[in-house]
Amino acid sequence: MTTSKKMKKGLAVAIFTFAVVTGLFAQNSATINADAGKHIINKHVYGHFAEHLGACIYGGFYVGDTNKIIPNTNGVRNDIIDALKKLKVPNLRWPGGCFADTYHWKDGVGPKANRPSIVNRWWGGVTEDNSFGTHDFLNMCELIGATPYLAGNVGSGTVQELADWVEYVNGKPNTSPMSTWRVKNGRTEPWGVNIWGVGNEAWGCGGNMKPEYYANVFRQYATYMTDWTNSDKLFRVASGANVDDYNWTEVLMRDIPHHMMEGVALHHYANVKWTEKGSATNYTEAQYFATIKSALRMEELVTRHSTIMDKYDPRKRVALVVDEWGGWYEVEPGTNPGFLYQQNTIRDAMIAGVTLNIFNNHSDRVRMANLAQTVNVLQAVILTNKEKMITTPTYHVMEMYNVHQDATMLPIQLTTNDYVFGAEKLPAVSVSASKNAAAVTHISLVNIDASKEQTISIDLRGAKYNAVTGRILTSKKLQDFNSFDEPNKIQPTVFNGAKLSGTSIQVKLPPFSVVVLTLK
Ligand code: AHR
Repeated sequence: MTTSKKMKKGLAVAIFTFAVVTGLFAQNSATINADAGKHIINKHVYGHFAEHLGACIYGGFYVGDTNKIIPNTNGVRNDIIDALKKLKVPNLRWPGGCFADTYHWKDGVGPKANRPSIVNRWWGGVTEDNSFGTHDFLNMCELIGATPYLAGNVGSGTVQELADWVEYVNGKPNTSPMSTWRVKNGRTEPWGVNIWGVGNEAWGCGGNMKPEYYANVFRQYATYMTDWTNSDKLFRVASGANVDDYNWTEVLMRDIPHHMMEGVALHHYANVKWTEKGSATNYTEAQYFATIKSALRMEELVTRHSTIMDKYDPRKRVALVVDEWGGWYEVEPGTNPGFLYQQNTIRDAMIAGVTLNIFNNHSDRVRMANLAQTVNVLQAVILTNKEKMITTPTYHVMEMYNVHQDATMLPIQLTTNDYVFGAEKLPAVSVSASKNAAAVTHISLVNIDASKEQTISIDLRGAKYNAVTGRILTSKKLQDFNSFDEPNKIQPTVFNGAKLSGTSIQVKLPPFSVVVLTLK
């Protein structure tokens, strides 16, 4: 070898070594312990949220029981019922949100013609005629196959009013004033609602309370929320912290006896900045990066709130309930700012994918969550326009991930490359895995990188698999979305980028993609 050839070879080796050491050629890798799962991914982590806000209920779910144009069952759109059944919605939260603390449920039962109208003071100041009330919601949940999650009014209601609501929906027929009234209003058997929110955002729209004060109020309300069914024990959720208000969780866990409280809530929304949320569809890569960074903050929030809960509840009796999460952007131009109507792009699919992976991986403590909101509001899974209905990229992620519901979470060790933008970086790959009752393993992977494919090598320990199949959700452009003109622009397709060899799988994840693998 000539001196110049030797020098070139030496230089090549040095560059290669530098690249490996600095991570330029770093390989994403994960080890999944398929025989080491301990915690069930509670199906309720895949919950949804329907508030009397904008066109979520009126003009969304509910088109009125005299509507002859849009096919419906008792006023609820049949196409929405079908789409949500396919999603396997485990629970649906209602009637708010901020609206819940202004809602007086007795206004929404009995003959519709006699129901009073109110003004929806939080959302657009529109008239709320109470035509969609308790019976409408609970019957709709039965059609969808979802467990109802009722949010009680603590901010402007009374203890008696909430106790009456529990009695109305759960009391044995004709055994009490409320259960007798229910029968008179057309429903004999109780619905048996066991998930109850005791107020919402008590630190803000739910009464601007301090945590010590709210803890006392919660104790009082919870005392009178009787278990009328004697079979379904009530699951009472305390209004939880705003994002990183760790003191809120600390005070609630310290001051509320744990036999009175089954869950503590947490709310976190993703956007560029709270004061500059950015457009839902027209964003730069910098805004994409900032929004995903904000969504990924859920990992830190869940970890830190859980650590506080562990201090007071090491046996993890009380669940962390993330009952509002999702992307929150500027409303679509020309729409009512109080209606929070926004489009939903592949960026929202990334948010859903990484957030659900975080929840799955924290299944020991996060046992319920609600995406905000189901139809026409914030990170919706469904958008409607008169008789048209479309499903969003977020819908598809929720549908692809529903294989994890009630499966055993499999622990994972992940080493990931960075997605670098400017001077900042984020973990490019996110992953979670579960094994279901039929011993089928599912692995959900997200590559958030806006331009680079990521290859990941997954080492599977403790199980033997013969075949891998997969589905992928991605798009051509980072700003793509489904519209009423192109409703199927983004939808899951067959994924052929995974190769199984022995106990290892190599997976090629295109930029901004969500993949779910099935291993048998
Ligand atoms: O989801 C929209 C609103 O966000 C809810 O009504 C409220 O709880 C939160 O601030």
